[in-house]
Amino acid sequence: MSAHPSASVDVEAIRAAFPALERDIAPDTPLVYLDNAATTLTPEPVLDAMDEYYRSYNANVHRGLHTLSQEASVAYEDAHDDVASFIGASGGREELIFTKNTTESLNLVAQAWGLAELGPEDEIVISAAEHHSNLVTWQQVAARTGATLRILDLTPEGHIDLAHAAEIIGPNTAVVSVLHVSNTLGTINPLDAIGDLARASDALFVVDGAQAVPIMPVDVEAIDADFYAFSGHKMAGPTGIGCLYGKRALLEDMEPFLFGGEMIRTVSYETASWNDLPWKYEAGTPPSAEGIGLGAAVEYLASIGMDAIANHERELTAYALERLAEIDGLVVYGPDRADERGGLVSFTMADIHAHDIAEITNDYGVAIRAGHHCTQPLHDRLGVAATTRASFYAYNTRQEIDVLLEALRATQQLFA
Ligand SMILES: Cc1ncc(COP(=O)(O)O)c(C=O)c1O
Repeated sequence: MSAHPSASVDVEAIRAAFPALERDIAPDTPLVYLDNAATTLTPEPVLDAMDEYYRSYNANVHRGLHTLSQEASVAYEDAHDDVASFIGASGGREELIFTKNTTESLNLVAQAWGLAELGPEDEIVISAAEHHSNLVTWQQVAARTGATLRILDLTPEGHIDLAHAAEIIGPNTAVVSVLHVSNTLGTINPLDAIGDLARASDALFVVDGAQAVPIMPVDVEAIDADFYAFSGHKMAGPTGIGCLYGKRALLEDMEPFLFGGEMIRTVSYETASWNDLPWKYEAGTPPSAEGIGLGAAVEYLASIGMDAIANHERELTAYALERLAEIDGLVVYGPDRADERGGLVSFTMADIHAHDIAEITNDYGVAIRAGHHCTQPLHDRLGVAATTRASFYAYNTRQEIDVLLEALRATQQLFA
């Protein structure tokens, strides 16, 4: 997962930057936040950046000649460059569109590229582990264009089955859209091999990086993705802001997804022409504070070091896998090895419902997620209605995993 296996994080310093970690869930019950794959907590530098925007230069970007609007515009535009640089997009802001979240980023590709380019002869290939945002979106495009949606199998450990990929990605494949890191199984997908297959078939290569960008160094140019989507709220940034990286030539060629103000260059009653990249794809007043907050988040994550965060995630995941194996009847889904995973573990515990587990662990201050994690068909394949998921971030500790274990044992006793 990491190029620098020795880089490490100063967990205490990181914890001090996240005010929510100071709170208790009940008297003498400190928060143990292990729901990071859903949304991460927010550090002071991000809170400060957004606070400063609202306190001192809260104005509409790109529309004003006055000082506040100019300051807001510069900060908002610079945030695009900062995020582009964070993921290795050398084209800067022109290749980095701010959206609402990963879901909107994937919809942008599906609507702006998919509806225009696909027809009944085309195949869309996704994996069996996709989040609904990368499944339902392409399902809809397939239904509207007559294209066929094909599903890549998984190996018993949860990896994409590359033999099956080589079988089904071929001359009819127009787009391959897969997760980088699975939000349910934790698997890190072999994007090199899948990207090679997509390129050999002249197919568009789209990556859902919602669970990867927050926890490991990501270089979209090394991956050679045509599009790469992710969310701010899973990487210490605010909600309401996501990103779509796209190769410049594609972004220039495509028609916009949303129409209105900000995205135009000229308008007459009959027609309109489009603004420069990336504004062509950012219709209406954008989430300025959130964009500026995301800029602060990537600066903060870079100051910790993504190699160090990746190492910490792997170390905590290894420890969680080791400890969870102590509980009778607990089944972990996905690979046994932490180095094949992102920082999350989904599991079932005998026949105790995931919602009961999450409710009881909450009494111990432990925040974990229960349900199908927006991968319902994958859960059907696994033969379970729901799983419980613990997911880690730079501020989590082994001691917090010990509290999770204590809470799980208490849950087990209650249902014994
Ligand atoms: C792998 C993956 N893709 C997409 C999404 C959707 O992200 P958002 O809800 O921010 O659009 C998530 C969120 O959990 C995810 O884990």
